[in-house]
Amino acid sequence: MTSATSMRTGLCGEVGVADVGKEVRLCGWVARRREHGEHLAFVDLRDRSGIVQCVVEGSADLRSEYVVAVRGTVRRRPPGMENPALATGEVEVGDCTVEVLATAEPPPFVVEDRAEVDEAVRLRYRYVDLRRPRMQANLRLRAAVVGAIRRAMDRQGFCEVETPLLWAPTPEGAREFAVPSRLHRGAFYVLPQSPQIAKQLLMVGGFDRYYQIARCLRDEDLRADRQFEFTQLDMEASFVTQEDVLGFVSEAVLEAAETATGERPPAIDRMTWAEALDRYGTDKPDLRIPTALVDLSEVFAKTEVRAFTAPTVKGLRVVGGAATSRSGLDALVERAKALGAAGLAWFRVTEHGEDGLPGLDSPLARVLSDAERAGLVRATGAVPGDLVLAVADEHRTACTVLGQLRVEVAGTPVGQGPYRYVWVVEFPLFESIAADGHPVAAHHPFTMPHPDDVERMKTDPLSVRSQAYDLVLNGWELGSGSVRIHRADIQARVFSALGISDEDAASRFGFLMGAFRYGAPPHAGFAFGIDRLIAVLAGEESIREVIAFPKTQSGADLLTGAPKELPASQLAELGLRTAQPR
Ligand code: AMO
Repeated sequence: MTSATSMRTGLCGEVGVADVGKEVRLCGWVARRREHGEHLAFVDLRDRSGIVQCVVEGSADLRSEYVVAVRGTVRRRPPGMENPALATGEVEVGDCTVEVLATAEPPPFVVEDRAEVDEAVRLRYRYVDLRRPRMQANLRLRAAVVGAIRRAMDRQGFCEVETPLLWAPTPEGAREFAVPSRLHRGAFYVLPQSPQIAKQLLMVGGFDRYYQIARCLRDEDLRADRQFEFTQLDMEASFVTQEDVLGFVSEAVLEAAETATGERPPAIDRMTWAEALDRYGTDKPDLRIPTALVDLSEVFAKTEVRAFTAPTVKGLRVVGGAATSRSGLDALVERAKALGAAGLAWFRVTEHGEDGLPGLDSPLARVLSDAERAGLVRATGAVPGDLVLAVADEHRTACTVLGQLRVEVAGTPVGQGPYRYVWVVEFPLFESIAADGHPVAAHHPFTMPHPDDVERMKTDPLSVRSQAYDLVLNGWELGSGSVRIHRADIQARVFSALGISDEDAASRFGFLMGAFRYGAPPHAGFAFGIDRLIAVLAGEESIREVIAFPKTQSGADLLTGAPKELPASQLAELGLRTAQPR
């Protein structure tokens, strides 16, 4: 495909040695202008593809970010004047005539990746920020990745269906954005947290392989990996098992990754939720970090050390960590306490002593038995120069605290390769017990319990596994999904376990339950966050870097000023009055 249009012969960044002698017409922004004597200027012309140097004679008034059309002839730069840092650095466009298409005020910051600019200023002038090569690359990567996802889903026989944005509450658990209705005063639409219910209705409707590049809206606290508005690859299929869904989604993710990196990642490993907790202390394991938690409960089974008399003792080897300063170790202990542990034990591993046992530098070293000392080092695989951290507590606390320290000590930014994908399967059906004594659903209330565990739903709810699964990349949750309940009897039991009354269920999800009475196929699905996938693949730490117009941490749009007050007339039309004017 040619980039030529009636206004230009091609793109700045594509001019090369092969064009020497050709007349070109290029359009773009003045990136930089350097005077060379009184009547000669070097103008760097920038468009989305890059920069080319144009040599302009005469005294045209060309300022930064003016929009210009340049006509000239491509020539080799004089020997010694080449710029290897520039893709077009061997050539320049000479004998230029320049037409100013639009003048520009001085930009609020230099349009270069190198310029360190406050994010608030970048967002206020996002249209200028978007000209920077980094943002150009990120949004183009985004388009390419979304294209790859569509191709993979189309190839697998999925049909893209758009579902409504003006909709009713969905049971995903986040706070929702509401939209007042003009025609039905006092009534509200809700913007979808996800197309969850709509896609299940599509299954009843016979679209047995559905997908959508879906906008989702959630009124939740914003963070590096969260925005109010975000995009999912949302999918659902009928007459499938969990295995089929993992296959479909893997195909889309691997194709997307290949498009972004040029390399198809290997098949995605999987582990159970219980294993993820036990080995990594989290349901979002970062497998780039080479070490895992080890169980030291056996080593300390008969211990005399009070700090280690707990149901579980977990240990973590920190490679090369013996160099950590005393204040660094104190900070780790404080951090462990802040995360909920009673304490944190640390051992700097030194050379073996004369007794043939590994040397341990630690306030606890004296009180460990020889067997404990040897066992600690053997179980963690630590060698001299390493640090061993240990937490003794309830199993879950010991795992989660040490798992969090594992990530913080490694300090590997999420966008730093390699990319390590992993499926986490067999999530628990319930995540905790609420104050009213009912369990809290870990996913949503339509998640199918594991067939072997259904009977324990009332008696031992926290031990019930579900057929829910997550996809994790470099410690970020990319997506989640589940096999859904399509049978009224099982749904009734889950609602009852959750303490959702028949009336409550009918008012919240009645239309879905009603639809299921007309023939619901067994179905399962998944959704992953496209913003998150692209941020990681782009090497970014925040999804804001891969979204054209994101909100700030406080939910403001600095460019438009949204959210804003509405004129009184508009409020009146909607039948609204603000109780707390700004
Ligand atoms: P879930 O709520 O886990 O599942 O969302 C799926 C994925 O969407 C992304 N995501 C977000 N990305 C950016 N900002 C946010 N505020 C945000 N919230 C979620 C994450 C997350 O893993 N309907 C179910 C899926 C299903 O069961 O099919 C759902 O939405 O990457």
